[in-house]
Amino acid sequence: MARVALVTGGSRGIGAAISTALHQAGYSVAANYAGNDEAAAKFKDQTGIPVYKWSVADFESCEAGIKQVEADLGAIDILVNNAGITRDGMFHKMSLDQWKAVIDTNLNGLFNMTRPLWEGMRERNFGRIINISSINGQKGQMGQANYSAAKAGDIGFTKALAQEGARKGITVNAICPGYIGTEMVRAVPEEVLNKSILPYIPVNRLGEPEEIARCVVFLASDDSGFITGSTLSANGGQYMI
Ligand code: CAA
Repeated sequence: MARVALVTGGSRGIGAAISTALHQAGYSVAANYAGNDEAAAKFKDQTGIPVYKWSVADFESCEAGIKQVEADLGAIDILVNNAGITRDGMFHKMSLDQWKAVIDTNLNGLFNMTRPLWEGMRERNFGRIINISSINGQKGQMGQANYSAAKAGDIGFTKALAQEGARKGITVNAICPGYIGTEMVRAVPEEVLNKSILPYIPVNRLGEPEEIARCVVFLASDDSGFITGSTLSANGGQYMI
């Protein structure tokens, strides 16, 4: 039986590439999404991957959504916490709403999604949790105090949980993408992108969603069983730790 993978924010951007790559690698995939029905329907038509709508920012919705996916596809073996949003702004202009929205989705979302799955993975002695953090959680980014804080939190969460899961066959890893050519990055003002970001990427281009998806496929596989608590940077050399 194919292993079951759930990808949050899995119908657009990096998430769509991850869902597709896992599907092509033989997993039974469910793609969660929060808002864009049209994009989700199109994604489902094009890939055959079932889509499920709920917000990762809401714990009860996550519990209910996960229950539904497990009823449809079976117990979830692989969770990719990919869903993320930006509400960029210099801190002196940042509202409480901008702060809370990003923390609720990008950090609390990891608790909301992982907690309901954790006990089942422990019982089955197998699990793969892959958290999509960001280069900006590693280095900090002006205009992103909220996002950088959440993404740095994702790395701490990964390292703590990896220690708890290790003896139960559950690996927990983070991937830190750099600037990838998705809608999120294309929303950055062109002048900022050209002047302040692109010149600092040594490989001299934005990354492609598929380049992140291939990292996920590796971390989801049995081949990666000795890798846990790690942070895999995929950023074109922009930031090295
Ligand atoms: N890196 C370096 N410098 C930056 C910067 C960045 N990412 N963003 C802004 N700046 C600089 C600008 O170039 C500008 O410098 P100058 O005064 O020398 O021209 C200065 O900061 C002020 O910027 P703005 O004039 O744009 O100020 P604003 O108040 O109008 O807008 C902002 C502020 C909303 C933060 C806007 O600059 C912005 O959107 N910046 C991009 C922030 C960013 O990098 N977001 C990443 C989004 S992609 C992502 O998050 C995915 C991921 O994981 C990598």
